[in-house]
Amino acid sequence: MDAVTVMKQEVGKAAAALVQSNSVVGLGTGSTTAYAIQYIGERLAAGELENIVGIPTSFQAEVLAKQYQIPLTSLDAVERIDIAIDGADEVDPHKNLIKGGGAAHTREKVVDALADQFVVVVDSGKLVDRLGSTFLLPVEVIPMAITPVMRQLEQLGAKAELRMGIKKAGPVVTDEGNLVVDLKFEHIDDPASLEQKINNIPGVLENGLFVGVADVILVGEIIDGQPRVREIS
Ligand code: A5P
Repeated sequence: MDAVTVMKQEVGKAAAALVQSNSVVGLGTGSTTAYAIQYIGERLAAGELENIVGIPTSFQAEVLAKQYQIPLTSLDAVERIDIAIDGADEVDPHKNLIKGGGAAHTREKVVDALADQFVVVVDSGKLVDRLGSTFLLPVEVIPMAITPVMRQLEQLGAKAELRMGIKKAGPVVTDEGNLVVDLKFEHIDDPASLEQKINNIPGVLENGLFVGVADVILVGEIIDGQPRVREIS
């Protein structure tokens, strides 16, 4: 198994171990969180955990939760979320994130921001000094507004690109039926202000900057050939 997969598995397992019985759990999206969902399911099946319900952040999370027999509910049926576990595409030294590589950042932000404890699971390759240095910033846009929104995003200094499907002709369509624009900025100096500026453009639903939302970052690393999980809190 390659090193990145091992790191993803280890952080997934570490995050699943934080889930307690009798709790509401936000289930994130992506290849790292998929391991957390698997291990939560295994703990349930082993009788180590009981009475938990999951709130999925995407169709992917919903499918995985069903596969691992994790009962699901919706935000209409709960008063709070105890813990959310989710991946990220970049993590900066202030625990701010870029998310949305899987086009699920809108629902992820709703669920992750509501959780009492938001635990981010990443491999060490996701740590950056400054957001936007390795990954484009995703923005979910309602389809009828795509042209003026892309123009206004470029006026903010970004190069804007409509995300196209892979093994599907045409653009990526989100779980909410919208489009995704990926932004390349030279620098993201002030993520909090940029998050607000982008979300103020009419037609933008949500962008992938998560500022001040994460509580704990679990980082999968390989040290001296051995997998380790480091906690940044
Ligand atoms: C989904 O839209 C994203 O926010 C993911 O959580 C993020 O891309 C991390 O995914 P991986 O764990 O697959 O890298």
